[in-house]
Amino acid sequence: MVALTDVERAMLDGESGAAIAKAMDLLIRYADALGADRFVETDNVAGVPGSSPQWVKDYYAADGGDYRAVFSRFDLDSDEVVDVPRMNAFSCHLQGGMDPELWREQGMSEAAHGNFVSDSAQVEAHGIQLLKTCTPYLAGNMPVMGEHCAWMESSAVVFANSVVGARTNCEGRESTSAAMLAKRIPDWGFHRDDFRKGHHSISVEVPVDSIFEWGMLGYYVGDAVQDTIPVITGAISDANLIRHKHFGAAAASSGGVEMYHMVGITPEAPSVEAAFGGAPRGERFVYDAAARRRIYDTLNSVGRSTDVDYVMLGCPHASIEQVAEIAALIEGRKVHVNSALWVFTSRAVKANADASGYTKILRDAGAYLMTDTCSAISQAVPKGTKVAALDSAKQVHYLPAMMGIEGWYGTTAECIDAACTGKWQGRLA
Ligand code: F3S
Repeated sequence: MVALTDVERAMLDGESGAAIAKAMDLLIRYADALGADRFVETDNVAGVPGSSPQWVKDYYAADGGDYRAVFSRFDLDSDEVVDVPRMNAFSCHLQGGMDPELWREQGMSEAAHGNFVSDSAQVEAHGIQLLKTCTPYLAGNMPVMGEHCAWMESSAVVFANSVVGARTNCEGRESTSAAMLAKRIPDWGFHRDDFRKGHHSISVEVPVDSIFEWGMLGYYVGDAVQDTIPVITGAISDANLIRHKHFGAAAASSGGVEMYHMVGITPEAPSVEAAFGGAPRGERFVYDAAARRRIYDTLNSVGRSTDVDYVMLGCPHASIEQVAEIAALIEGRKVHVNSALWVFTSRAVKANADASGYTKILRDAGAYLMTDTCSAISQAVPKGTKVAALDSAKQVHYLPAMMGIEGWYGTTAECIDAACTGKWQGRLA
């Protein structure tokens, strides 16, 4: 049984209101299911509080069918509808279902957009930051080493744990919504030192030095270690935030990696010994030329036709450096009449791209810079899409399977070429 402090007991007893009592009740059930014996305080929560498509609201029609009903019954698993106050923790909203301006281009209906606007107003009124991105760390929410967070979104979780050294499990909608109110999350899993030790070794024997290569290595690592913690050594270079972003997202897709150690690169892995922390060293995997070839072929196994009618970039949401690179690659060119190019990012990065002229360069080329969502989350692709080209191992893992389309994986430059020629010409150098 989880032990409660006096403050937590008072919250459970309703001294801070009914919604916080319901939040504590949910968190206690969650902690007991995990076997946690205490809570940690958190003041950094990322989730999708109360947001829902209309059919979820309709499901709770008898309770009013509104934000309050969904937050109470769905988010808090409450047996009654309660008033939902402003959140107590610093809270941000992750990605959602459509672009706030380009929703028509995404094929969304007026009714769906109306629901989106109404949810956004509620989120804002409850004191939640509308970051609307899978990369909150690129949009104003960068935690620090050791900070206890409660985040959803697998690519953001693996980034926070591994690259920053912050502490979060891969939370769900219910636990994050409750944590926003109670500022608590079970002291379990990645919040604890003993959970953060490496399990298996990955030896990298081919150069991994670009977003494309880091993405493929991430996909290999996830497939190899599944949901355990890899300790990676060898020929990895040119580490930067974007490469980590693509590596972690891929590792969380092919496996369930929520934390990785790169020796000499990530903060809790100054040495192999430190990364394992005295824990038994499991299997050793080797990423060599044959493994690289196998991963490339796997990522391209759903590509048949070289006629590309959709190019999607920005998974996880593009950084400003990536938007700048895309603008440089497409400036003076045009998206082919048989193709489309959608680039996804956060509102914060788009504001920067607008001010820097990149959005206009993309529009002049016939491409769109979109925010808040992506094709996998919104299940929106240009009408008639049969073949997509992607520079994200995560997105090629999900989008073709979700939408029943073909998909190619390549470099950002190969994807831009495909958008401008309508033809896939990618190859493994
Ligand atoms: Fe983000 Fe969509 Fe990829 S939400 S991580 S761009 S699948």
